[in-house]
Amino acid sequence: KRHLVSTADLTRDDALLILDTAEELAQLSGRAVKKLPTLRGRTVVNLFFEDSTRTKTSFEVAEKRLSADVINFSAKGSSVSKGESLKDTALTLQAMGADAVVIRHHASGAPARLAQSDWLHGSVINAGDGTHEHPTQALLDAFTMRRHLNPGTGKDLAGRRVTIVGDILHSRVARSNVHLLNTLGAEVTFVAPPTLLPIGIENWPCQVSYDLDAVLPKTDALMMLRVQQERMNAAFFPTAREYTRRYGMDGIRMAQLPEHAIVMHPGPMVRGMEITAEVADSPRCTVVEQVANGVSIRMAVLYLLLGGATLADAPRTTDSA
Ligand code: CP
Repeated sequence: KRHLVSTADLTRDDALLILDTAEELAQLSGRAVKKLPTLRGRTVVNLFFEDSTRTKTSFEVAEKRLSADVINFSAKGSSVSKGESLKDTALTLQAMGADAVVIRHHASGAPARLAQSDWLHGSVINAGDGTHEHPTQALLDAFTMRRHLNPGTGKDLAGRRVTIVGDILHSRVARSNVHLLNTLGAEVTFVAPPTLLPIGIENWPCQVSYDLDAVLPKTDALMMLRVQQERMNAAFFPTAREYTRRYGMDGIRMAQLPEHAIVMHPGPMVRGMEITAEVADSPRCTVVEQVANGVSIRMAVLYLLLGGATLADAPRTTDSA
């Protein structure tokens, strides 16, 4: 495959290859192998039309650890603000020799449009498009679940119960996760108010519940989502206070989870809304670990799309080299 646009495009073998490669790369980093020369001489452009803290930074770290030449392009401060189109922006990047473009865009479908076009010859990696997909987030989430729920041995997540809570309607993270988790054999339950569920949810490969307290004891991994008020035209229903009461995660609810269960969040978190500080700062919450795992996953994706050599063959640069 040349592009990563949707987790729906990944077979089980594709997904396991990315997760296993990320595990190997994480272990190399743990052994002070700071840099691999795999992408030396290759140019990767980070094309961000929408704000990002975690995804943008971790792609840049991943690219630099693979020795790529990195160009950071933000729509703010570029000629996009003068009306330049996605096509002309892409043609400009192609003229500069981009081997891969990592794109975040407010419009669902923008990465797929780039991948299908002849505007760019290199790989397109979706870093989050509108309310559609965020495939590397789902991969780093699965990587984090595997490490906690199948330590050392597990290949996939067969039979694991994942509960995703909150604004499913606007969540590209939920969409990418439901595809990938199904491919890996997990059982997904969405918990949300009816107003924050998409039309046609009954056709998605998941269960739906409106009762968080009933689902918590049957959960191995709980993923809390932010309410994306910036994607709504009007105030959302229920009110923020009612939302927190019914769907927010606090210490009392955390005690209802099985002992081995983890609490996840893709970030950014709104403390006091979907998650209390007590839960966010607890040892069961993997939010910071997810960010670190994102670097390994993004290295693996770039490595597999652009690299080609096996990890065992790759010459390495260590701290002492
Ligand atoms: N999880 C995530 O996509 O965070 P950013 O918006 O900060 O990249």
